[in-house]
Amino acid sequence: MLDRYVIANWKLNLPPEGIGPYMRELSETEPGPAMVVAPPYPYITEVVKAASDRVSVSAQNAADQDKGAFTGEVSARMLFDCGARYVILGHSERRTIYAESDALVARKVGLALAASLTVVLCIGEDLEARDGGRAGTVLAAQISAAAKGLGGGGDVIVAYEPIWAIGTGRNASGEMVAETVGQIREAIGKSWPYGYADRIPVLYGGSVTPENVGDLVAQGGIDGFLVGGASLDSRKLLAIHEAARTTA
Ligand code: PGA
Repeated sequence: MLDRYVIANWKLNLPPEGIGPYMRELSETEPGPAMVVAPPYPYITEVVKAASDRVSVSAQNAADQDKGAFTGEVSARMLFDCGARYVILGHSERRTIYAESDALVARKVGLALAASLTVVLCIGEDLEARDGGRAGTVLAAQISAAAKGLGGGGDVIVAYEPIWAIGTGRNASGEMVAETVGQIREAIGKSWPYGYADRIPVLYGGSVTPENVGDLVAQGGIDGFLVGGASLDSRKLLAIHEAARTTA
């Protein structure tokens, strides 16, 4: 079995219950899928300090440069220094709102892997592509573009996040996810260095809640979840973790 993950993406939010209480709740995490929390940059060190040995910390983004005159940027190496061990790259909010291209994402992947971070590479199709039967083609293009960052090797997790399912309350069905994960593994086999296709964990993200997680675990053929909205409540996150832990 591949390693499994439940990753909490806080985005530009903090948990209403407060970081200390939230992290104390998470220290109750049972062994099973790795629990990873991705706070906004300035809170990374606080979350690292509050994390028990059951919980790791991720950044939500990183610069496509290592150092220099790039005002406002944070490098992968700095994130590692601050205790982050993962970084989410290519999230659809970065790709669409901040116009991050496939080439930019690939550069970030290369720098993050060189800094010993595990990359959580997000890919996903929009509704037009899904309805037009082009989801597989769109995902394969994103996967193939990211391959340019993989030269030096390193640990990568793929998060399949259909854009139409993010923050909309409309999640993909387990059946649809299973079919898409097959297409994703096939595309990885074609365009990434040998061996990646069989050992890459593939997660699902997009309106995951304690209520819909059961179907996704049972039918989705996935190795865990990237959770946005529901991850801001420690009890919901723990419920999702519990489902991923016990149903796999
Ligand atoms: P959501 O976000 O769970 O709020 O849909 C998921 C994500 O964007 O990672």
